[in-house]
Amino acid sequence: MLCRETDSHNEKDVMAKPKIVICMGSSCFARGNEKTVEACENFLAERGLKDEVDVDLGASLCTGNCAEGPIVLVDGKVYKHVDPLVMRDILEATFPQKG
Ligand code: FES
Repeated sequence: MLCRETDSHNEKDVMAKPKIVICMGSSCFARGNEKTVEACENFLAERGLKDEVDVDLGASLCTGNCAEGPIVLVDGKVYKHVDPLVMRDILEATFPQKG
């Protein structure tokens, strides 16, 4: 027997855009997350993914992991010590090139 709520929940999940949160709290900002934002934007532009991904910069001031920053979250998974090269690796793994 299929559960309607589960089915519609799964459909909603499939349709939701992936979400990237780049912590712009003062600690992560000072540790270089503004360069990570640039790397993220460049990657998404190169891959034509700008409209496919929700990138949140403002609403997430300090995630409480300052000592391990800069912090980036991708669909709720926390990545620590992220720099532009690590950001690119995360994005490559999250959005593998098709073909
Ligand atoms: S400023 Fe980013 S975790 Fe605190």
